[in-house]
Amino acid sequence: MQGKRVVVLTGAGVSAESGIRTFRDNGGLWEEHRIEDVATPQAWLADPSLVWHFYQRRRRQLQDVEPNPAHVALSQLQNGLDSMVLITQNVDNLHERGGSSDVIHMHGRLETLRCEATGRHEKRMNSTDFSDDFLLCTCCSTPSRVRPDIVWFGEIPMHMEAIYRAVDACEVFVVVGSSGHVYPAADLVDVARRHGARTVLVNAEPPLNLDSFDEVHLGKAGELLPGLVRQWLDSEG
Ligand code: OAD
Repeated sequence: MQGKRVVVLTGAGVSAESGIRTFRDNGGLWEEHRIEDVATPQAWLADPSLVWHFYQRRRRQLQDVEPNPAHVALSQLQNGLDSMVLITQNVDNLHERGGSSDVIHMHGRLETLRCEATGRHEKRMNSTDFSDDFLLCTCCSTPSRVRPDIVWFGEIPMHMEAIYRAVDACEVFVVVGSSGHVYPAADLVDVARRHGARTVLVNAEPPLNLDSFDEVHLGKAGELLPGLVRQWLDSEG
């Protein structure tokens, strides 16, 4: 991959070995919660406490988990290549803690909270920020309630302009740990392909969009990626 423009897209599978549950595997988050109840703007209007508690639990969990070898390998890839853009559907901070920089979080971030009045987001990870009570912003003169800084179903993913710019121009497109269920993320591999990129998958199980990949590595990302990254850093293809 040396000398190539590389884009990597990650999903929940990359953080699975850190102990963060995926969404659609056995025991995944969406088995326990209906998407409509916790991950839509309508849910926030109907029962904000339920939604707030769901995301506060996930925010608190960030303090108990560590990056795994897959996060570290991807940061080594990014540091070893001239051009690599890392896009993630994940809202955790494990890529950054594994050494990656400029990570594009297309579905938002748990670390930040968003003012409902101004839409401004700020990092809120102090011990007082994990309460089950609603929190207030620091940007308004009369502080407003904050909401999770997450892209819910029915909302537009973040940074799409930068994402399409990178994907349109890439020569190698790698997906790690994503089931291919959620659009537009699931479609990016085909966008890359249409622009002539070679497409590579590292995933525990075949995703819905398996046919879109030229090269497939089935297995756990934390086990496969360290070796693959060593090969990719040595290869020109
Ligand atoms: P999913 O839970 O849909 O899929 C996780 C994928 O990771 C599956 O294909 C698994 O086979 C694979 N996997 C599990 N463990 C793995 C491991 N150790 N190594 C490699 N692969 C592994 O998660 P996503 O595709 O990320 O959106 O889901 C996309 C979006 O749906 C999420 O960002 C979230 C969710 O609803 C929002 O909340 C907006």
